[in-house]
Amino acid sequence: MRRVVAVETLDHLPAHDPAAVRSRRDLMWVHRMMRTRSIVRSAWQALVSPQRAREPLRILELGAGDGSLLLGVARSLAPRWPQVRLTLLDRQDIVSPATLEGYAALGWTAQVLATDALAWADTRDVGTQGGVAQRWDLISTALFLHHFEVDALELLLAAIATSCDRFFAFEPDRAWLALTGSHLVGLLGANAVTREDAVLSVHAGFRDQELSGHWPHDATGWQLHEARAGLFSHCFSAWRTEEAR
Ligand SMILES: C[S@@+](CC[C@H](N)C(=O)[O-])C[C@H]1O[C@@H](n2cnc3c(N)ncnc32)[C@H](O)[C@@H]1O
Repeated sequence: MRRVVAVETLDHLPAHDPAAVRSRRDLMWVHRMMRTRSIVRSAWQALVSPQRAREPLRILELGAGDGSLLLGVARSLAPRWPQVRLTLLDRQDIVSPATLEGYAALGWTAQVLATDALAWADTRDVGTQGGVAQRWDLISTALFLHHFEVDALELLLAAIATSCDRFFAFEPDRAWLALTGSHLVGLLGANAVTREDAVLSVHAGFRDQELSGHWPHDATGWQLHEARAGLFSHCFSAWRTEEAR
């Protein structure tokens, strides 16, 4: 299957359009089917040693949406990751006060950065952006990188490689099983926006070592791991070796 990137409806609906609100709710069910939270949690724990996790950690999610996905991850990690400062970047400002309170109740500090990720990638050398430091212990993405054609994808990955020590991406697996699953999201009660976007997402997803191939070749001291995860997803991890940090 050739990779095809298409504009997804949810990305262009006004944030509070009822169809968008409903589609974001559908996404929670899609994440359950994809086992996203447990895959993200395991990947983060593989990237951050238990000892390092007890120290202050700065984490950035690019394309964070309403921030609810990571809240579930935070709930299971918070006892062992007590001092997290999380930045939720998305071009839509849709993280609710209740979600921010959910992070606060766990002892995590969460802040929203409402900006375009490509603008973030372009200006990352400035040092701070809206008072937010541009250095991260971990950058994470979920169902985000597949939105981008190769040039933008490589710009993002280059920015990520210069801004953090660890990176994790969770994406649709561009394969027949995931494509079949995406055609069946209607069985979960998903609305028309979700049904259409799910199929587009798989066509724009990744397989084999494609993300590794787009990782900046001049980024030295990094180790990469890329593989299918679960039935429907494709994951990429990158980490700087101790010597390179
Ligand atoms: C499919 S949603 C995933 C949201 C969340 N990561 C999750 O898995 O629940 C994709 C998100 O990427 C955001 N997005 C798409 N293109 C973006 C860009 N260029 N800059 C910032 N956010 C973007 C959209 O606004 C949307 O919230």
